[in-house]
Amino acid sequence: MKVALIGATGVVGGMILRVLEERNLPVDTLLAYASRERAEGLSFRGAGLPVHAATRERLLADRPDVAFFASSDDASAELAGALVDAGTIVIDNSATFRMAEDVPLVVPEVNPHAMHADHRIFPVANCTAIVLTVALAPIEHAWGLRSVRVATYQAVSGAGRAGLDALVREERGEAPDGTFAAPIYRNVVPQVGGYDGDGDTGEEKKVVAETRKMLGRPDLHMAATTVRVPVMRAHSEAVFFETELPASVDAMHEALRSAPGIVLHEHGIVTPRDVEDTDLVHVARVRAEVGDRTDTHFQMWVVGDQLRKGAATNAVQILELLIARGRFDATQPDATQPDVTLTLRQAQGKGERS
Ligand SMILES: NC(=O)c1ccc[n+]([C@@H]2O[C@H](COP(=O)([O-])OP(=O)(O)OC[C@H]3O[C@@H](n4cnc5c(N)ncnc54)[C@H](OP(=O)(O)O)[C@@H]3O)[C@@H](O)[C@H]2O)c1
Repeated sequence: MKVALIGATGVVGGMILRVLEERNLPVDTLLAYASRERAEGLSFRGAGLPVHAATRERLLADRPDVAFFASSDDASAELAGALVDAGTIVIDNSATFRMAEDVPLVVPEVNPHAMHADHRIFPVANCTAIVLTVALAPIEHAWGLRSVRVATYQAVSGAGRAGLDALVREERGEAPDGTFAAPIYRNVVPQVGGYDGDGDTGEEKKVVAETRKMLGRPDLHMAATTVRVPVMRAHSEAVFFETELPASVDAMHEALRSAPGIVLHEHGIVTPRDVEDTDLVHVARVRAEVGDRTDTHFQMWVVGDQLRKGAATNAVQILELLIARGRFDATQPDATQPDVTLTLRQAQGKGERS
């Protein structure tokens, strides 16, 4: 299989390289691209990996079977459609196509059924929304969700290499450079993504819309406040939720313990540093709200490495699911290609970084 990785020099692109190696995907040729060419610097399976400039001409000439995008909304909007038209399957970490009606948002543990034979473009959902959805799915399945409220504590690596560098520079005593809406060192910043100073931020809109889409619950009552914290890796989330049917903490523990992709911490706490470089979503502090007489109001603490499960690992799991479904078998007739122009038109505005 010939695989293209656009954005290979970034933090998500670098992690996709690692996850492809770790999970031993059947990659015969890996082609790396970024905004500009580099002769050296990256490696894959022990060999040097040159980086090409990601131009439409170059990508179309290279004819990859699969293209991972880990670059920017603009690059995905410009290049992904042309590749899909040429027969490539696109797995895209940007926000460009996520909310398009005819495009699935697949989290393999949660909604593999959303992947249909005629889909050729697979956005990877917002990292905060993926971590939240993995934890909420077994609860939705067992009791139904009436409402979800979430406050997040998001790592600086959610803003890519620039976010990591900004925290390191501020720790050294340098002045904030505007990467975040306010100084991030010894601070918390209640703005992730674009914000006009009134209402929800771009990140908050994504968390709500994409969680609803992945859970298949467009009607779900949701509210989010997303906050950047001076943590390097892994996003944390305080989740407050109401179930349709009465539940208990013990039954919820049981549902979470047996759900795929979750590590349940029945006792004690879990922190971002505990889960760095892991693929699972960690859930702790499941408890009933004090004073609730209906057995329907609960809280939990959820932590996940957003570079792995929130981005690279989920992207590679989508490829694994496609392989398992025979989408790359030589005998498989080419699936109907979607109308990419329509897909682009339907996609909701530009995304901010998470
Ligand atoms: N960071 C996260 O936790 C996270 C989680 C989920 C999703 N995402 C999404 O994943 C994507 C990558 O994020 P990141 O955090 O890895 O960012 P990053 O560290 O800033 O890396 C960006 C990468 O994209 C490349 N790039 C930028 N503009 C390009 C262009 N026009 N054409 C080709 N390549 C281009 C950069 O190449 P150069 O090195 O040449 O500049 C670099 O390789 C974004 O869409 C982001 O929203 C990020």
